[in-house]
Amino acid sequence: MATTVTITGAGGQIGYALLFRIAAGDMLGANERVRLRLLEIPQGIGAAEGAALELQDAAFPLLEHVEVTDDPAVGFDAANQVLLVGARPRGPGMERGDLLAANGGIFGPQGAAIAANAASDVRVTVVGNPANTNALIAAASADGVPADRFTALTRLDENRARGLLAQILGVPVRSIQRLPIWGNHSATQFPDISHTTVDGRPVLDDLAERVGDVRTWLEDTFIPRVAKRGAEIISVRGSSSVASAASATIDHVRDWVHGTANWTSAAVVSRGEYGVPEGLISSFPVQAVDGRWQIIDGLEPDAWARTRIDASVAELVEERDAVQKLGLV
Ligand code: NAD
Ligand code: LMR
Repeated sequence: MATTVTITGAGGQIGYALLFRIAAGDMLGANERVRLRLLEIPQGIGAAEGAALELQDAAFPLLEHVEVTDDPAVGFDAANQVLLVGARPRGPGMERGDLLAANGGIFGPQGAAIAANAASDVRVTVVGNPANTNALIAAASADGVPADRFTALTRLDENRARGLLAQILGVPVRSIQRLPIWGNHSATQFPDISHTTVDGRPVLDDLAERVGDVRTWLEDTFIPRVAKRGAEIISVRGSSSVASAASATIDHVRDWVHGTANWTSAAVVSRGEYGVPEGLISSFPVQAVDGRWQIIDGLEPDAWARTRIDASVAELVEERDAVQKLGLV
C-alpha cells in the first residue's frame, strides 16, 4: 500500500520543510510508502520542480513517485492526504484575518477540485491562513465530502504553549500534556491549562509558586505570548514560521492517522459542541481514534475560560460572515 499526499504551495517555504520529512516517513510511518503530488501555481512550479529533483537525490526508500503540477485535477487525483499550504503569508503589522480577501479565493476552487478528484477516504489539513476559515471555505465547496474530513492546524499553537510552559517550569516538553487550544488560529485563541499535567501532576499545583497569581499571569503573559508567537517569529526572523509549522503539520496528520495517546488540539467542524455554532471550524481539545478526530466531551470550562472561548468563536463567526459577504461560502 502507498498513501498519495498532495501538498499545495509545495514550492514555498513550508512546502520545502514538509516534503523531506513526509518522504522520510515522519508523517505516515516507517512502513508506509508515499506518493507525492506537488501542486503549485505557474509562478511556483520552478521551485517545486527543484524540490522534486532534490527528493530524487535524497533516495528515500519509502518514496514511490513525485509529480509536479499546476492543474488541481491532476494534483488532487486519488489523494488520500491533502495539505493545503499554498497561500500568501502575512507580513509585519498584519493579522492573519487580513489575508482573507487575498487567500479566501484559493480555497473554494480547491475544495471543489478535491471533491471531484480525491480518493474517497481523503483527509484535508489546512495550513494557509486564515486557516480555520479557509478550511470552512474549502469544506463548503466540497460537495459529497463529509465536513469532518476538513481540519485546520492549531497544533503549532499547542506546541508553542507546551514549549513555553516547559521552559518556565524547567522540565522537558514531553512532561507537559493536555494543553489544548480552543477557537481560532489567531490572536484570540485560548490555550487552556486547566487540565494540563506536568509528569502526571496538575500544572496548577506547581505554577503558583513560580508565577504568583496564575490568572494574572495567564492574562498578561502566557496567553498573549502563545497567541502572538506567530507575530514574534515574523518580527525576529523577518518572515513567518516555517519549520515549526511543518513539524506541527506532520504531528497533526500523524496523530489523525495513527491515533493519539492523550488529548491534543485540532480545528475541526463543530456539531454544536461547547456552544460553538454548528459548521464552524474551531479548535477543540480532541483525540484521534480509528482515523477520526473526536472532541473531548464533558469538560466544564469555568466562567473565565468560557469568556475566552466565546471571544475566539465570535471572531470565527465574524470571519464566516465576511466570507459569506464575499460569496466564498
Ligand atoms: P510561501 O510564500 O513561502 O509559499 C506559499 C506558496 O504557495 C508559494 O510557492 C505560492 O506559489 C503557492 N501558492 C499560492 N497560491 C497557490 C494556489 N492557489 N495553489 C497552489 N499553490 C499556491 O509561504 P509559506 O511560508 O510556505 O506559508 C504558506 C501559508 O501558511 C501562509 O498563508 C502562512 O501564513 C501559513 N502558515 C500557517 C501556519 C499555521 O499554523 N496554520 C503556520 C505558518 C504559516
Ligand atoms: C504562525 O502562527 O506562525 C503562522 O500562522 C504565521 C503567522 O502569520 O503568524
